[in-house]
Amino acid sequence: MVKNILHSDALHKVGSGIFESSVHVWQYILETNVYPREHVLLKKLREATIKHYGRKSIMMVPAEEGQLISMLLKMTNAKKTLEVGVFTGFSLLTTALALPEDGQVTAVDVDREPFDKVGSQLIREAGVEHKVNFIHSDATSALEKMVKQGEKFDMVFVDADKTSYKKYHEILMKLVKVGGIIGYDNTLWFGYVAVPDEEVPEYMKVDCSALKELNSFLASDTRIEISQVAIGDGLTLCRRLK
Ligand SMILES: C[S@@+](CC[C@H](N)C(=O)[O-])C[C@H]1O[C@@H](n2cnc3c(N)ncnc32)[C@H](O)[C@@H]1O
Repeated sequence: MVKNILHSDALHKVGSGIFESSVHVWQYILETNVYPREHVLLKKLREATIKHYGRKSIMMVPAEEGQLISMLLKMTNAKKTLEVGVFTGFSLLTTALALPEDGQVTAVDVDREPFDKVGSQLIREAGVEHKVNFIHSDATSALEKMVKQGEKFDMVFVDADKTSYKKYHEILMKLVKVGGIIGYDNTLWFGYVAVPDEEVPEYMKVDCSALKELNSFLASDTRIEISQVAIGDGLTLCRRLK
């Protein structure tokens, strides 16, 4: 079932995530709640990403997840946030739009080409460029540098190399404020985290196993409270308790 869904054309049309199992419900949510309220420049960014990157555009955070992230930022009055994994900038523009005028999102990506090609000009067009601090770097070295500098963030969104999430978690626990939130994207990995290993396609096994290990680890980490939200490809929210 998962396999058919994963390779179906519907996946590409509606995005990524576990809700392909209910494409009609997902389409309904998008058409009723999400697309009518989507910022015009987020729509432009989404469409430009699909145009430039085709199937690779699946890496983008789906619009309904962006809507949730935006609301979380506002509900928690986040002002200073961190993003690991930018690609063309969909989650970055979402964040920049949600932050107050004097807010700042620091965004790290090892590859700046997709951002330069698609996202940066639309972020300028949206008038939120002043809130964005893009760091072109491997995440581990950038995050370790921030720890040394004593940086603290209200919220962190991680959407990069899945095999490093567990390592990032230890560093991010030093970077997020007590009471702050770390969100890990793709923690359901197209639903494959919940099926026997032999049903996971070979090319997805390494990330799947890393995400399963992360999920178990987060569930047992007493320094945080968690909620694994079945949105997009799975978003685990961790609130730092101590
Ligand atoms: C899934 S995409 C991010 C999508 C983005 N959040 C969005 O909404 O469009 C993952 C990104 O992580 C970046 N990445 C992968 N490994 C990384 C690393 N070790 N350090 C920094 N960035 C990395 C990739 O270059 C890629 O742009």
